[in-house]
Amino acid sequence: MQQLIEEPNVLYACPVCRVPLYLQQSGKSFACQNQHNFDLAKEGYLNLLPVQDRHSKEPGDSKQMMIARREFLEAGFYEPMGKAVAMMVDAGITEGQGMRLLDLGCGEGYYSRIMARYCNHSEQIAFHGIDIAKFAIAAAAKKQPNARFAVASSKRLPYPGEYFDFVLRVFAPSDDDELRRVLKPSGYFLTVTPGPRHLWQLKEFIYSEVKEHASENPVPQGFEQSAAQRISYKITPNSRQRIALLQMTPFAWQANESIRQAISSVADFEIETDFILTLSVKTAVV
Ligand SMILES: C[S@@+](CC[C@H](N)C(=O)[O-])C[C@H]1O[C@@H](n2cnc3c(N)ncnc32)[C@H](O)[C@@H]1O
Ligand SMILES: [Zn+2]
Repeated sequence: MQQLIEEPNVLYACPVCRVPLYLQQSGKSFACQNQHNFDLAKEGYLNLLPVQDRHSKEPGDSKQMMIARREFLEAGFYEPMGKAVAMMVDAGITEGQGMRLLDLGCGEGYYSRIMARYCNHSEQIAFHGIDIAKFAIAAAAKKQPNARFAVASSKRLPYPGEYFDFVLRVFAPSDDDELRRVLKPSGYFLTVTPGPRHLWQLKEFIYSEVKEHASENPVPQGFEQSAAQRISYKITPNSRQRIALLQMTPFAWQANESIRQAISSVADFEIETDFILTLSVKTAVV
């Protein structure tokens, strides 16, 4: 098992009032000086989502979506993209120096595990991940006990300013102000966004006229692009995996039962993947 670098001064900031959070004597919760309390779950993650930010009982992806995502990802279909992400993260590591990395909207933690496996110097990386979905974070923490996962919103990150060297965001939302706040000067931000033809053949089952995915601008204000890569390849998931993949997409809700039937029963179904990896570096405080 991979060794975690020492992080003696690991700190969270209270998501309510932003002052430091300290581990309490019981070892089971963190609290700030203003008595905001957050429990450590048995899986080792911290729930740092303040009650007022829990707009629904189950914010973020549902348990069913999380299970589908894990099943699909663990089958390796996105591993080539994951390896390319690891190579870009490697480029941000200075040999012999520790690095704190945050996976924003990390889901069930697939990319932290991929980086622990494929980064050249993964022993130098302290992995952190946040997601608003509790089930996903519990699943991530269970699989990677030496990483630090927290239930939190990207809109209010529970970390002090300039805490991270590297922030990763794969198909998840983020908040530009918070991103700039938690990244160190010259810190890196790596995004994975869908390329124009991502999952084209799956979309053909849903839309009468499939349109290319509109390109997003993955470089926030105060950042400069330092590298970009487009990765596309074909995958052939089986019937069950196709439905799991569908569940991961924003267009899943448009697929009724007969569309799902058609997707799972078609023979020899090849689907294009298309990913855009964009690495940018923080240049200024805006
Ligand atoms: C499409 S999934 C991607 C998950 C993961 N990055 C992956 O690729 O496997 C989007 C994730 O963002 C999370 N999410 C949605 N809104 C969020 C927010 N405001 N803060 C943190 N996470 C959020 C969802 O719960 C979900 O796990
Ligand atoms: Zn507080």
